[in-house]
Amino acid sequence: MEDSNIDIRADIPLLENVIYLDAASTTPTPKPVVNAMCDYFNNYNSNTGRGAYRIAVKSTNEFEGARSKISKFIGCKPSEIIFTKNTTEAINLVANGLNFKKGDSIIVPNIEHHSNFIPWLNLKKKGIDLNIINADKYGVIDSADVEAAVDNNTKLITTTHISNAIGSVQPINEIAKIADENNILYHIDAAQSAGHIMFDVKKIKADFVSFPGHKGLFGPVGTGFLYCDEKSVEKLKPMNLGGGTVTNVIGGSFEFEDVPARFEGGTQNIAGVIGLGAAVDYLKNIGIDKVEKHSKKLTSQLFQEINSIDNTIIYGNPENIYGIVSFNIDGVNAHDIAKILDELKNICVRSGHHCAIPAIRHMGSYELGGSVRTSVHYYNTSEEIQIFGETLREISKFFGD
Ligand code: ALA
Repeated sequence: MEDSNIDIRADIPLLENVIYLDAASTTPTPKPVVNAMCDYFNNYNSNTGRGAYRIAVKSTNEFEGARSKISKFIGCKPSEIIFTKNTTEAINLVANGLNFKKGDSIIVPNIEHHSNFIPWLNLKKKGIDLNIINADKYGVIDSADVEAAVDNNTKLITTTHISNAIGSVQPINEIAKIADENNILYHIDAAQSAGHIMFDVKKIKADFVSFPGHKGLFGPVGTGFLYCDEKSVEKLKPMNLGGGTVTNVIGGSFEFEDVPARFEGGTQNIAGVIGLGAAVDYLKNIGIDKVEKHSKKLTSQLFQEINSIDNTIIYGNPENIYGIVSFNIDGVNAHDIAKILDELKNICVRSGHHCAIPAIRHMGSYELGGSVRTSVHYYNTSEEIQIFGETLREISKFFGD
């Protein structure tokens, strides 16, 4: 771990009991984030944007304060952040909130998480075409393929930033340029990059970016948000109408609230969002540059440990993966490996198709029940990776010829 004033392992008690290598699923929540939520529940638990009494005003201020912190962190205005319960909900808002017409076409790679695939696939029912482009053997999209797939009907390109199944980093800046030059909307799934590496939405020039709160950003589960560029937001219809979304109702009609309130119908996950605001503070205090350096080092160590074992197959190019190393032991079901790692040394890794069956098929690990996926964050140590490597080596001997 790089030097930091924060003792992150002391802030995450769970790490005393397990070697947690599943940051790509969710990250354990540090104490200051839990404390911020407890403070809300214990001292000012009330709804936002409604009450005139003092604790309700405090709730609103803390909630909007979190929006402000998050917006600064990703380089946009607070009004460009729409809270959701997770990345999936953010992506569904874009897929269903845009007014696509029969014959429109969407470009999507074949290595996406289901959350950035099924909502688009579902639009086929409305006569919208999906132009599915294939990644290379390392799970990387070639921006030239994206460019070649663009035609007059293309209305949107959607890609992940980092593949959740492979860890491969995608050329999002090049794709954003192609989208911009062709006047096409660009949506990015930042589920595996936000909080792990610097992500400035304005520099990248995407129209929409979907974020989880509970992964790299260290927020609690049940939080996520959509960045929606102010120039593109008018193209997006709210999908969840009700309390908080309108300014007036007269007879049979209503007037929408401004952005983002019109998208946030009903009582929000107030404690969760306040926790997410505290998480962003926490991450800023560590320093995203330190997180990035540390994760790069551990990713490379993971790759080397796994690669030094004879009967392993690793997916992804070591020069172009980040935070995630996905692999199989030749001929062995992925879940068996994950269960043995847990039973032998309390090592937590994800196994299976990672909600990305097209990616798993592309990699060729479907028949093995998917891959074994290791993923790291700032709280992991070199020693943990070494223990993982030694344990995997022992397991591999058992399955060797
Ligand atoms: N999307 C999360 C993962 O890849 C849950 O594990």
